[in-house]
Amino acid sequence: MPARILDGKALAGAIEESLCDEVAAFTTAAGRAPRLVVVLVGEIAASASYVAAKARAAARVGIDADVVRVAGSADTAALVALVSEIARGSHGPVDGILVQLPLPRHVDTLAVLDAVPADRDVDGFHPENAGLLSQGRPRFIPCTAAGVQRLLVDAGIATAGRRAVIVGRSDIVGKPLALLLSARGPGGDATVTICHSHTTDLAEHCRTADILVAAVGRPGLITAEMVKPGATVIDVGINRVETPTGSRLVGDVDFPAVAAVAGAITPVPGGVGPLTVAMLLANTLLAAELRIGRR
Ligand code: GUN
Repeated sequence: MPARILDGKALAGAIEESLCDEVAAFTTAAGRAPRLVVVLVGEIAASASYVAAKARAAARVGIDADVVRVAGSADTAALVALVSEIARGSHGPVDGILVQLPLPRHVDTLAVLDAVPADRDVDGFHPENAGLLSQGRPRFIPCTAAGVQRLLVDAGIATAGRRAVIVGRSDIVGKPLALLLSARGPGGDATVTICHSHTTDLAEHCRTADILVAAVGRPGLITAEMVKPGATVIDVGINRVETPTGSRLVGDVDFPAVAAVAGAITPVPGGVGPLTVAMLLANTLLAAELRIGRR
């Protein structure tokens, strides 16, 4: 039987719909809309398109989003200064600040991210927020990891007592997702393995997974032979590949072959991507509500 397709786009739409009401209630109570400032550095086409998608989604739910574009030649000190100024209100009132990654190679990414105050860190990358998540009392959860867990819970895919294998150990996805899936409670209680570039016998680890998450950025990494029949496969990769008929987006999973083996699978596009955006909107509303003491 072909795998069930986990429709992240539809779930993101439903989340946006409920956020509309919550944002409207906040706006009435606070006398202003929640406000997100996104910093976009340089000319990476994929980053520009992700940021545009975030701004459009914010507008759909009534969140005010401002995109601050910076030349790719900006250095670490200039970016730290800019983020600090934004936090102090130079670009208007601000509940959430997001610095779109990756930054140019000459920039110290952690120094720039550390300039985002923990209470405006809607990406959940600040050490304070990462620490709270690791202690099982999360505040802002990194958006893609939160989106993957939300998708599993919404689809009724049990995690408790199941084996989850995450391929990729990034601070953005792999590490926070491992914490979420192994935490106590709904969407958690799984036994989690993190695989990475030094893992020996990757295929063998993957074949043990009831839930397999690929978050590496390598097209075709996960093949059908690496998937246990009936497993849930979550594809976090977004890779642009050239084909004879033009370029298209693919994930890290060989979708046609794996869909024939898996029990459930996310498509690319239309799987995890839209949920990342929906979770960012939820985090921005949370930041705004915490700011005025509504949560
Ligand atoms: N680049 C790819 N994913 C993300 C994300 O979740 N947040 C930010 N800031 N940049 C990204």
